[in-house]
Amino acid sequence: MTTKASGGPHEPDRPPALPPRAASADLGMLVDQLVKLGLDFAAEALPAILTRAVKEDLGTPTLLEQLLRGELERREERRVRTSLRLSGLPTGQTLTNFDFAFQPAVQRSKLEALATGAWLREKQALLILGPPGVGKTHLAIALGVRAVETGFSVAFFRLEELLHAMRKDADVPPTRLRGKKYMKAGLVIIDEVGFETFTREEANLFFRLVSYRYQRGSLCITSNKAIKDWPEMLAGDEVITTAILDRLLHSCQVLNIRGRSYRLRDLEDDLNGRS
Ligand SMILES: Nc1ncnc2c1ncn2[C@@H]1O[C@H](COP(=O)(O)OP(=O)(O)OP(=O)(O)O)[C@@H](O)[C@H]1O
Ligand SMILES: [Mg+2]
Repeated sequence: MTTKASGGPHEPDRPPALPPRAASADLGMLVDQLVKLGLDFAAEALPAILTRAVKEDLGTPTLLEQLLRGELERREERRVRTSLRLSGLPTGQTLTNFDFAFQPAVQRSKLEALATGAWLREKQALLILGPPGVGKTHLAIALGVRAVETGFSVAFFRLEELLHAMRKDADVPPTRLRGKKYMKAGLVIIDEVGFETFTREEANLFFRLVSYRYQRGSLCITSNKAIKDWPEMLAGDEVITTAILDRLLHSCQVLNIRGRSYRLRDLEDDLNGRS
């Protein structure tokens, strides 16, 4: 076995000591190559990291590790940013700014479990049910953001927008339909189900969506209507409602939020204070 003259096998390699002009020429070439490879962070950070490596006597593996870790972190940030933008998720509603103390019907432990993304890997559905203002949309958005952070593609729709898109695509052949965001995203969130009654055509389109996504990807639905009221909501069609619920509830988690409206909390406090 041969060992290098500069040190034993466990000694860190040092950057070669080149005359200043040659070193800067090499550095420029390295930066160019990193840019060509699309490693923008590494290209930007290389001079500073090299300087630090010399100053702090860092070995080559440490130097490379810092360079690659930085590049990966930068890419991950970019992925999350782009994915959030494409998702259509509104901003500002997260698990961190959800007041669990205000809404005891929402168990923090259950939300923490959902935040891990295990339900998405299992392609489960999630129903968030409850009266107005209890935080259904807030939690759906917060879990959508977590889903993006854990690597899933997400598409957020209010039901009205989704039905509009699906009506437009009513005659699209199945092969092309698969490419639509509401079919292929890892998680599709449908907010505000139950404000309006579906027409029969819309109920059929909704069935097509649920049926296609069944065991392919997760659906999160927020609704102010209890399950028993879904037949009436779905154009009074018992057959289609049963078919939809059969698929949705087969592998599903439910957050049933019976609680106070966060929107009306101040008003309620005032009224209680006065009474
Ligand atoms: N527990 C909470 N902590 C912090 N903010 C909350 C909480 N619950 C609700 N909110 C806020 O109150 C407002 C209403 O909540 P949200 O829109 O989630 O209600 P909702 O259940 O979807 O109501 P609706 O059925 O009318 O759509 C939002 O701005 C939301 O961020
Ligand atoms: Mg809502």
